[in-house]
Amino acid sequence: MKTGSFFALATAAAGLFGHAVAIQVDFTSPASVKSAASSIAFDLMSYYTGNQTGQYNIPGLLEQPPAGYYWWQAGAMWNTMVDYWYITGDTSYNEATTQALTFQVGDDQDYMPTNQTKALGNDDQGMWGMAAMTAAEYNFPNPPKGQPQWLALAQAVFATQASRWDDAHCSGGLKWQIFRFNVGYDYKNAISNGCFFNIGSRLARYTGNDTYANWAEKTWDWTQKIGLIDAQYNIYDGTDDLSNCTTINHVQYSYNAGVWILGAAHMYNITKSDVWKARVQGLLDQSIKIFSDNATGIIIERDCELTEPASCNTDQKSFKAYLTRWMAATSKVAPFTADQISKFLLISAKAAAAQCTGGDKGRACGLRWVHDGQIGVWDGTTGVGEEMSALEVIQSTLIGSTAGPLTNTTGGTSQGNYNAGSNAKTAASLLDDWTPTTGDKAGAGIVTAVILAGVIGGVAWMSMAD
Ligand SMILES: *[C@@H]1O[C@H](CO)[C@@H](O)[C@H](O)[C@H]1NC(C)=O
Ligand SMILES: *[C@@H]1O[C@H](CO)[C@@H](O)[C@H](O)[C@H]1NC(C)=O
Ligand SMILES: *[C@@H]1O[C@H](CO)[C@@H](O)[C@H](O)[C@H]1NC(C)=O
Ligand SMILES: *[C@@H]1O[C@H](CO)[C@@H](O)[C@H](O)[C@H]1NC(C)=O
Ligand SMILES: *[C@@H]1O[C@H](CO)[C@@H](O)[C@H](O)[C@H]1NC(C)=O
Ligand SMILES: *[C@@H]1O[C@H](CO)[C@@H](O)[C@H](O)[C@H]1NC(C)=O
Ligand SMILES: *[C@@H]1O[C@H](CO)[C@@H](O)[C@H](O)[C@H]1NC(C)=O
Repeated sequence: MKTGSFFALATAAAGLFGHAVAIQVDFTSPASVKSAASSIAFDLMSYYTGNQTGQYNIPGLLEQPPAGYYWWQAGAMWNTMVDYWYITGDTSYNEATTQALTFQVGDDQDYMPTNQTKALGNDDQGMWGMAAMTAAEYNFPNPPKGQPQWLALAQAVFATQASRWDDAHCSGGLKWQIFRFNVGYDYKNAISNGCFFNIGSRLARYTGNDTYANWAEKTWDWTQKIGLIDAQYNIYDGTDDLSNCTTINHVQYSYNAGVWILGAAHMYNITKSDVWKARVQGLLDQSIKIFSDNATGIIIERDCELTEPASCNTDQKSFKAYLTRWMAATSKVAPFTADQISKFLLISAKAAAAQCTGGDKGRACGLRWVHDGQIGVWDGTTGVGEEMSALEVIQSTLIGSTAGPLTNTTGGTSQGNYNAGSNAKTAASLLDDWTPTTGDKAGAGIVTAVILAGVIGGVAWMSMAD
């Protein structure tokens, strides 16, 4: 289906938006969008107890699993709060955000804090690294001297990951897990390589240093060659080292699409090449097709939202936040996509706002923005992922009026360090010294239950492949 017809149908559906809406938004008014964003940001931050006294009072962290959220999702949330400040100008949460992003850097200042080692994936580290990168690009207030700086943190994450590039299996790629004792060490996945690609392409643009661009090219080439990106620009979740990456887990998640689109958009911005332009367009068209409801054009997490009941786990409930964040950012560095992206996101922003009618305040946001063709019905779920996704998509409708990400020659002031991350001693020594228990092995960072079960079960996940 062509995107044009999505718009007509969505407009027809807009009549439903009028009733029982507790987050009221007039999308023609920036003040109204900001006001809605501020309510949702407040509700999102109400999940954060990291700066309060009590059980979960470690700066940067959300309540921990099993009831709460893995470390990576907290990092993703701080990225949302940087986006929120940038788009709305509201500084209310800046202090908490800076404290969080600097407290969790770890002893080597590379987002590998010792407490997380037992379950640390490249993607988990990457999520925090991208938050720092966003802070650099947006000139989020720099931490005081003597504290780790945004650009250097992103460079550190990148450098540690480049050192883990694994030529020994499948002729390249990053493994999902960093430590061999973790379940998923043999999995090479789209999100880990995608985070590396995303940070590399953005560092290349920010610093003008070709080393980063070369790594980004190499990562794209490997991922495409191995089949995690196919000719139609589908992005599949991962593949297995133990089969020399000849088997692919074909499940598609929206955050995988998003992380690659924004990286490709940066490569286009740097190179201005037709090759990268075609990749950006291809990824965008395919993601719109795969991750939107056919009738309304509203974004769906297709793998887990369409079942009854929805089967999205805590991680997956947040994925639409990243697709929408990264599409919005794409529209700035690849302006030829701006019209298509803004129309696409507006449809979902309206639908997301319309269903934020749950909870005690009557404004909690749920997972599904459309359900069985219905818009404006809260699906009964609440949480960080739900609030974060609604916030990102709603505030993204104002991205057009922002200046766009900076570089170190256009006003970016964050201090970098090319040596950052080059001697990650702490993590390396932990790898040698630490013997995990069975319980430790069961913990993991970005774990989709299906994949974890699959990796444990050896080849079981391959039956998912279509
Ligand atoms: C925690 O952070 C919030 C938001 O920045 C702030 O309003 C509050 O005062 C902070 N609380 C403490 C105890 O620091
Ligand atoms: C690590 O865990 C300890 C014990 O709970 C806590 O005191 C410390 O603040 C944590 N550090 C980080 C960076 O989360
Ligand atoms: C493993 O996969 C890589 C990448 O596709 C390929 O270059 C290499 O020849 C394969 N090795 C074996 C032993 O099949
Ligand atoms: C930007 O970074 C590059 C690479 O580190 C450096 O060569 C250049 O001098 C920097 N430019 C500014 C204005 O800081
Ligand atoms: C949308 O329609 C296409 C073609 O009929 C179908 O393959 C696809 O599964 C549908 N997508 C969703 C999310 O329903
Ligand atoms: C690169 O990004 C900047 C900042 O958003 C934008 O002004 C510029 O037009 C982009 N370059 C290209 C080739 O699209
Ligand atoms: C470019 O980045 C690489 C990798 O971090 C670094 O080793 C190199 O010194 C940088 N080049 C310049 C000119 O700053």
